Amino acid sequence: MQFSTKTLPQADFDSAKQVKPAIASLVALATDCLILGYSKADLNKKTPGSLLLELDAVLGGSVARAKLAGDLSGKEASQCLLRAEVSWSKAGVKAKRVLLVGLGDLSAKESLSLQSYAKLAKATLKTLSGGAIESAVWFVPSFGSSADADTVLKQVRLTAQLAGEQTYRFGVRQPAMKFKAVEYVDPFQELRFVVCKDGAKAVQVAVHQGEALVEGMNLAKDLGNLPPNVCTPTYLAKTAQGLMKKTKLKVELLTKKQMEALGMGSFLSVAQGSETPPQFIIMRHNGGKASEAPTVLVGKGITFDTGGISLKPGEAMDEMKYDMCGAASVVGTMLSTALLGLKQNVIGVIPTCENMPSGKATRPGDIVKSMSGQTIEILNTDAEGRLILCDALTYVERFKPKAVIDIATLTGACVIALGAVHSGMFSDDSHLLADLTQAGHDSLDTVWRMPLDAAYQEQLKSNFADMANIGGRPAGSVTAACFLKRFTEKYPWAHLDIAGTAWKGGAAKGSTGRPVPLLVNYLLAQS
Ligand code: BES
Ligand code: MN
Ligand code: ZN
Repeated sequence: MQFSTKTLPQADFDSAKQVKPAIASLVALATDCLILGYSKADLNKKTPGSLLLELDAVLGGSVARAKLAGDLSGKEASQCLLRAEVSWSKAGVKAKRVLLVGLGDLSAKESLSLQSYAKLAKATLKTLSGGAIESAVWFVPSFGSSADADTVLKQVRLTAQLAGEQTYRFGVRQPAMKFKAVEYVDPFQELRFVVCKDGAKAVQVAVHQGEALVEGMNLAKDLGNLPPNVCTPTYLAKTAQGLMKKTKLKVELLTKKQMEALGMGSFLSVAQGSETPPQFIIMRHNGGKASEAPTVLVGKGITFDTGGISLKPGEAMDEMKYDMCGAASVVGTMLSTALLGLKQNVIGVIPTCENMPSGKATRPGDIVKSMSGQTIEILNTDAEGRLILCDALTYVERFKPKAVIDIATLTGACVIALGAVHSGMFSDDSHLLADLTQAGHDSLDTVWRMPLDAAYQEQLKSNFADMANIGGRPAGSVTAACFLKRFTEKYPWAHLDIAGTAWKGGAAKGSTGRPVPLLVNYLLAQS
């Protein structure tokens, strides 16, 4: 999807006498589809300078005919597509279609909530995609003209995000992803945001942000969707390294010897059952002063989770290729961060390996020593995410981070608790909690706070080691977070359990790219 911005000084609907020239300049744009919003109130306005009346005059009665047919209800998010007629070109109309989007009861003085805006935008993008339309013009102030600059920025950024989501296809970016003889590509590939002079700068910034976000999301989705025989720890490491060519990111890998020397006994115990070597990836975006404390993102990178010796049942086991979606979201967010040139230091850290059963695999009952020195009795080899994350969380202490956020498809229990709506958020830090919640709202990539208090730590008691790696079935996502908490006392920390939100199962099976929008919005708000 390509995005662009165009300033059209006449496209100003603020006063009645501006409407006619504004419409004339908009319909004169050569595009497959011009999008305009109208409210229920607009439907009955008969005075000169009212939107639908003036539009009808230029379009030679197309609007009146649609109204007569009952296609113009004004209902929120309703779509009425007007197609070019012979009279249009005579009147200087270059748009091949005009899409009228109902704004519901919205008055001209009101601006939409971001949630309502998203509903309109989603419905509109659905109309635009999958047909013959290749390009469209999104007239920015049309969905609620009184919006302030900050609201416009969020709306436009979100529109780009949603357009990217609507038109995403797997198997079109890299040769390694081409598995189907014929891959459908959505013809809808170009979205042009048109603004009148006020706020043009803000819209350009927002479009740029949305563009960078979509790049990061697409990469995260691609990595998630790749089969586990392609997207191995090695492939993840190579992909991260490959970003050094496109961006200023610095990427470093630890060797297995270095991991051993650092004492990452917990991480290595998960990797030991696999023929594929583990990787430890460190990605740096040095956008701030060298002295500035970085934000660190840690992503779970299990490229396939069989459960290990505590083998999972076979049903839907293929979906455990998505167990690296935390890692994918870190790689994607680092790409977006670099493309945005954010003026802050951000470090992405990814422990990645497979969780396989074999003669060399860890057994239930084994005790391992983590990098922190704390020992862990492994009672279930399927609770492996926390075992790889805990060493990464100790490793990142060296960066003296201002905040650490880990992202993991950590527990089935989180899917039971929150479903596919919110990611689980665990933290004791009021700033992190507030900032992540806000970023979630702004990106429709929401989080829900879960508990983390000491009472749950009881469940992790072991008779033989400092802790067990499981806490039983009750509050399974909370005890997993409590396990991680024991390794994060040296910095402000938040844990995101994305087991329910990172991918969809069923007929529409696929990676969602979440929580890249959340993380990119979080970082943007920190700048
Ligand atoms: N990767 C899974 C979590 C998961 C399961 C995510 C299903 C999405 C859907 C994780 O490694 C795991 O297996 N967790 C166990 C923990 C249990 C053994 C304490 C789980 O949730 O069942
Ligand atoms: Mn597991
Ligand atoms: Zn797992």
